Amino acid sequence: MRASAIVVAAGSGLRLGAGTPKAFVPFGRSTLLGAALRTISAVTSIGEAVIAVPAGMETRARREVEAAGLQIPVKIAAGGAERQDSVRIALALTSVEAELVIVHDAARPLASVTMFEACLEQAAATGAAIVAIPVADTLKRVARDQNQDAIFETIPRAGLWQAQTPQAFRRRLLLNAHARAAELGIVATDDSELVEQTGARVAVVPGSLLNLKITTADDLRLAEALAAELLR
Ligand code: CTP
Ligand code: MG
Repeated sequence: MRASAIVVAAGSGLRLGAGTPKAFVPFGRSTLLGAALRTISAVTSIGEAVIAVPAGMETRARREVEAAGLQIPVKIAAGGAERQDSVRIALALTSVEAELVIVHDAARPLASVTMFEACLEQAAATGAAIVAIPVADTLKRVARDQNQDAIFETIPRAGLWQAQTPQAFRRRLLLNAHARAAELGIVATDDSELVEQTGARVAVVPGSLLNLKITTADDLRLAEALAAELLR
């Protein structure tokens, strides 16, 4: 098997505040998780999927898998306290037969098949690849000063990129990176950082502004509008 997909969907979605875990919030024809699963079903080099969901949501997730029409074996596991824990738990369930693992956030329902394929192709060639986009805005570090948010410094944006998911790695490399992180107590917000810290080189392939991450209610509205437009 070429690749195993990990979908992390075990967060609670506090900032969205939908009253239900974020991955199960309605989106388009199904849910945020359903959207990610439909995309994965169209990536032919992915031979299995492992989904991390909040404990107790496993049956609900199985229904999403069926609705998405995934024709590959799918494992569903309860995730952990942090995203990194959820990835580690799911990673342990991936097949030893998979050469590559591709990790994706259920919170990014608009990632494209092309993004998955580009990451996998690059990771097959060089070991690790993520989708990212160059930073377009001017960045300010802001601190609270005299009861007022004020600019502390401007960060030169040249060379700065925003990391997205999917992120693909040789399975061995990602396993080593997570084991090392657990051993040294390293916490990161994406898998690439853990791999970077092993000294391995991570390539970047084109992401898109459209591949936005649903964090707040405004993000969800924006993504709904984009999805309606993209499907037209
Ligand atoms: N995630 C996970 N396990 C966790 C925390 C997060 O699998 N313990 C997943 C989320 O489901 C999401 C992705 O990691 O797909 C990115 O996390 P984030 O956007 O922060 O989602 P939530 O943690 O659900 O949101 P919030 O931080 O607002 O509670
Ligand atoms: Mg979170």
